[in-house]
Amino acid sequence: MNCSRLTSTLLVSAFVCAISVFASDSACLKKCLDTTETPSYFSDSPQWASLIEPFNLRLNYTPAAVVTADNPEHVSHGVLCARNCHIKVQAKSGGHSYASFSSGGQNGSLVIDLASLNTVTVNQADGTAIIEGGVRLGNVDDMLYAQGKRAMSHGTCSNIGIGGHITHGGYGYDSRLWGLALDHLIAMEVVLADGSISTVSPTENEDVYWALRGAADSIGIVTKFHVRTQLAPEKLVYWVYDLTDILIDVPTSVASLQEIQDFALNPEFQDRRSTWGWFLGPSTFLLRGKFFGTLDEWNNRIAPELLKGLPPPRTGSGAATDVREVSWLESQALFYGFEDINSLQQPEEPGQYNTHDIFYAKSLTIPDPMTEAAMTDYFTYAATQGATVAAPSSWFSIVNLYGGPDSQINIYDAEWSSYKDRDSIWVVQNYASVAAGNVFNEGLRPFLDNFNDAMTESMPETAFGAYANYIDPDLTAEEAHFLYYGEDIYPRLLDIKMRVDPDQVFYNPLAVGVGDF
Ligand SMILES: Cc1cc2nc3c(=O)[nH]c(=O)nc-3n(C[C@H](O)[C@H](O)[C@H](O)COP(=O)(O)OP(=O)(O)OC[C@H]3O[C@@H](n4cnc5c(N)ncnc54)[C@H](O)[C@@H]3O)c2cc1C
Ligand SMILES: *[C@@H]1O[C@H](CO)[C@@H](O)[C@H](O)[C@H]1NC(C)=O
Repeated sequence: MNCSRLTSTLLVSAFVCAISVFASDSACLKKCLDTTETPSYFSDSPQWASLIEPFNLRLNYTPAAVVTADNPEHVSHGVLCARNCHIKVQAKSGGHSYASFSSGGQNGSLVIDLASLNTVTVNQADGTAIIEGGVRLGNVDDMLYAQGKRAMSHGTCSNIGIGGHITHGGYGYDSRLWGLALDHLIAMEVVLADGSISTVSPTENEDVYWALRGAADSIGIVTKFHVRTQLAPEKLVYWVYDLTDILIDVPTSVASLQEIQDFALNPEFQDRRSTWGWFLGPSTFLLRGKFFGTLDEWNNRIAPELLKGLPPPRTGSGAATDVREVSWLESQALFYGFEDINSLQQPEEPGQYNTHDIFYAKSLTIPDPMTEAAMTDYFTYAATQGATVAAPSSWFSIVNLYGGPDSQINIYDAEWSSYKDRDSIWVVQNYASVAAGNVFNEGLRPFLDNFNDAMTESMPETAFGAYANYIDPDLTAEEAHFLYYGEDIYPRLLDIKMRVDPDQVFYNPLAVGVGDF
């Protein structure tokens, strides 16, 4: 049917067209998935509501169908059926996309849920591991450790899926030592838009290998991640200092953060063994991290330098200060934080996962040291505008050290992978949410926009970027391509996209290619 013939009114024509195209394409999809015996669910199935529920309940989309893949062939059938029926595709691994892109990022897409691809297998001969596309990070830790005390770097929340996380960066408190999660990759098995199941590595399909490591949402669906792993340390230092007293007034906050930044950039005290950052909330300021050395060296050599010139950390009841030697798995569990330990259990079936938030977040990557003016604007905004955010709304700002002396994140460049932010010193996440059961407070969006602006406006020469794993659905596609990839990486990504996915089967509103073909 030709949409332009329905001209009665613009509104009616758009509506009729959307309904009829949607209905016929989704009938086509159902027929194709049934014919190929691909496990799939539609809106009439009892599991539908739980299968389509996103992590971020602020952004709910209704897919055309959900394929629950038990093997790469199911993924391949799903992709081919969607392509033949003119339906867009997104993979769902842990489902933690800030923009609900693993629900399509729009209505009417095919979601390919990878939750049943949940094994981790360590090769005892070389210490590498195969992680299937749907494993959650807490389970990655458990299963790597159980097979020879292996470990890798990744984010702190145990419920994040490996699929979205490792393909768009992946930072945790081991990343200055071991690189980002993404930097552990040595090969992948991927389903491309033509339905092929291919291996990609530095020597096979090198372009796709490069593109997947930074932009997989736009390029293909990775079913297996082949990673190098590290021997987990027997002991390391987990540390948190409750420095809420720096918030007594803005000048004290700024002077303290200047000390902290000087420490971050001082090669005498800062090496790859330390990864850390700060947490700023309405009336909380914490510094926290891991140190892969002895408690003695931390307490006697490094911590005194870190704390020099700062008000003493709060201790005693109600204070978060906590410095101790722990095992590797304990250090991971301590950073999982707010989650209960049961959430570590990988759900047996897709759709059984039931943790949510209702939120918006914005990120910033900062390649230069923060100036005194930027710090002043940051703390002033937090103290004034931040104080106006009232329950059930809340906010926080987490800033992590990516760069600094000896960082193993910044040894890579744009030739290594399509992940951009190799020059960042700091990476910022400003996050605001409402408590469960509430409608989102739309005022939190401008609140966060202005929070970011407060951090950037006084540093006009700095090339700020944004972090693709904190994907921001309020950006235009053009802004997203610039901030997440930039002018060195994006043109090469676009070229690969046009070759391997000319129909833009792998789609979300910010995907590579949107607005460009
Ligand atoms: C509570 C919380 C804490 C977080 N903490 C951290 C942190 O400490 N460090 C950090 O770096 N990030 C952190 N993040 C961000 C997190 O890394 C991203 O949200 C990540 O993309 C989620 O991956 P996922 O597989 O769970 O998400 P999904 O929603 O399943 O996927 C995200 C995107 O990747 C695509 N995708 C998923 N799997 C595949 C695959 N196999 N092949 C191709 N494309 C795929 C999806 O289609 C979607 O576009 C956190 C997020 C949350 C919600
Ligand atoms: C998506 O579908 C839901 C219901 O299925 C509807 O409420 C919502 O408005 C739709 N969103 C868009 C952007 O069309």
